[in-house]
Amino acid sequence: MRIVKSVRGMQRLALRWKRASVRVGFVPTMGYLHAGHMSLVRRARRLVGPRGKVVVSIYVNPTQFGPGEDFSAYPRDLTKDAQACRREGVDALFAPTDAEMYPGDGRNQFSTYVTEQSLSRVMEGAARPTHFRGVTTVVVKLFNVALPDFAVFGAKDFQQSAVVRRMVRDLDIPVRIVVAPTYREPDGLAMSSRNKYLEGNLRAQAVVLWRAIQRVRVALRTRSRGVSAQQLKTDLKGFIDREPAARLDYVEFFDPETLRPMLKVTAGTHMALAVFIGQTRLIDNGRL
Ligand code: PAF
Repeated sequence: MRIVKSVRGMQRLALRWKRASVRVGFVPTMGYLHAGHMSLVRRARRLVGPRGKVVVSIYVNPTQFGPGEDFSAYPRDLTKDAQACRREGVDALFAPTDAEMYPGDGRNQFSTYVTEQSLSRVMEGAARPTHFRGVTTVVVKLFNVALPDFAVFGAKDFQQSAVVRRMVRDLDIPVRIVVAPTYREPDGLAMSSRNKYLEGNLRAQAVVLWRAIQRVRVALRTRSRGVSAQQLKTDLKGFIDREPAARLDYVEFFDPETLRPMLKVTAGTHMALAVFIGQTRLIDNGRL
């Protein structure tokens, strides 16, 4: 496996593969890789076949973190991540520095952003106003560097996948976006690099996100005509408040294509929530 640190180096490699008609599957990550990331890598491998190449990027992208968020604390372990990628048969690991991705003196000489203006306004976008602008900008940059045929994203960041798909469609970017299922711990907690922050009894309380989704699924089983979203939101706030360290940031019920909020929740509606467990903000989602 090659470890490539420079934008030009990765572009040269990707161009060489492109000219040889080698298909490239790409898994963009912020590192601190876990089993969920590895499932995305395997999906990329299946998409490109044994002759294709799989590229993983590891870059903790500063522009998608808001002021006061966990950019500096975000867990990093490139050595361990590289070992995991090597074991999984990754062909190239792109791990650029900030200076490579945002050249110049810090962010001052970087002034071009890509903004999706509809799907990125709600939920995560409302809670973290500059987040998706940072995501779409860095994803376009990474696509321009790795030149992939396929890019695999995890369903845990459901809204991110929807925003990226819309961007790719609107800007005619020749990359197929594939969304792979959320990988969960045996007790239902969605795998996330941020789970590392959950010390002591916080880890057990974090399962409340998954339980909240299950709770709504069970409620809908006996209510085939649906339940009011407001009623469910009130119930879930009480349910989540029972965990001493948990604080609901938002819970939303929406159409999975348009992300438009639904007033009446029925089977097939999508649910997403963000909950603080202590200082750690976790997200999860599921189809009901
Ligand atoms: O999902 C992530 O890990 C990040 O948002 C991504 C897509 C790698 C962009 O920084």
